[in-house]
Amino acid sequence: MHITKLRRDTPGTENVIHFNNAGAALMPKTVSKSIINYLREESLYGGYETADKNRNSIEETYSIIGKFINAHSNEIALLENATAAWNMAFFSIDFSDGDRILTSKSEYASNYLSYLRLQEKVNVQIEVIPNDEHGQTSVTSLNNMMDGKVKLISITHIPTNSGLVNPVEKIGEIAQKHDCFYLVDACQSVGQYPVDVQAIGCDMLSATGRKYLRGPRGTGFLYVNSDQISNLLPPFIDLHAAEWTSKTTYQIRNDARRFENWEMNYAGVMGLKKAVEYASDIGIQRIWKRITKLAEKLRWELAELPDITIHDIGKTKGGIVTFTIDSISAQEVKKYLSDKNINVSNSSKSSTLLDMEERDLSNLIRASVHYYNTETEIEQFITAIDNIAN
Ligand SMILES: Cc1ncc(COP(=O)(O)O)c(C=O)c1O
Repeated sequence: MHITKLRRDTPGTENVIHFNNAGAALMPKTVSKSIINYLREESLYGGYETADKNRNSIEETYSIIGKFINAHSNEIALLENATAAWNMAFFSIDFSDGDRILTSKSEYASNYLSYLRLQEKVNVQIEVIPNDEHGQTSVTSLNNMMDGKVKLISITHIPTNSGLVNPVEKIGEIAQKHDCFYLVDACQSVGQYPVDVQAIGCDMLSATGRKYLRGPRGTGFLYVNSDQISNLLPPFIDLHAAEWTSKTTYQIRNDARRFENWEMNYAGVMGLKKAVEYASDIGIQRIWKRITKLAEKLRWELAELPDITIHDIGKTKGGIVTFTIDSISAQEVKKYLSDKNINVSNSSKSSTLLDMEERDLSNLIRASVHYYNTETEIEQFITAIDNIAN
């Protein structure tokens, strides 16, 4: 990897040490430019007219995203964030009383809130799959929990609060054997880890643009396996998702765009497309390799410092590094680092409540690295942490 060139492509690296890639990564120039150019065109020629003129380029977004995750363009829906994508998928499932939903310990708050919301209307059972000895979702336990009542296995691939990478491919084998729906929250993994929907064997997968993909805020997408699209009816539809055919009828689309809205932030879509192209050009295997190498260095150096506890779990660990410093709050550390132009974020208890409660954790410092970060930045970060800790 030509790190110098990649950093030259990323003006933000001149201003900050950005270890908040799990929040929102720094956009490459080519991404921000494509958004600005599109907005300029809209302001000069009109929003609808600009969309018409750029129709082919907008269309390409579907195949570029599809290729990136090994899906067909018809299986991709563009949405405004990962949560909107995930909710569209989840609430499209026709749940009945007695259905079981199996989920992971590290489930993201918004997903779990939707399970609870559903439970207010339908008597579904929400069950949490135990972790194995490494802290990842236990494939053996999941296997033992399966029966004909399991309607959905819903897994967060990489959680918001640790380096954990859940074994989604192995879980997919179980889902396929038992013929239940399988939904993967890949919000933190797309752009970081080589996500391949065929290898995972999932029916649905949600992702966001702004995190490891390095796209703009307010963008996301949903993958839905073409064999399942007709079995999934979106909770709400508009005149883009379906055609109004008579006073009592409508015809719903038969591709994944039945999960979309008519109105879309096209400038954001152009940025997302560029971001996926940019990641594809670098190569996701190389990206993953570099991220894990940097994160490993960061964990190793943090572990050398006194009064620091690292909280990452899992057998395979990605770019999200979480830790605490004895007697200094995570919020104070974030503020201290921010004053030194070092960006991190905090992981709160309520964003992954089950996992945090089980491990008796409340607030963590989350330093999430990307391939454009450097060993030197890690050393500067370690010096800053050493200074505040002592
Ligand atoms: C694991 C996970 N899932 C879902 C989301 C929600 O993503 P978005 O804010 O794009 O809706 C996040 C955001 O941090 C996340 O970490």
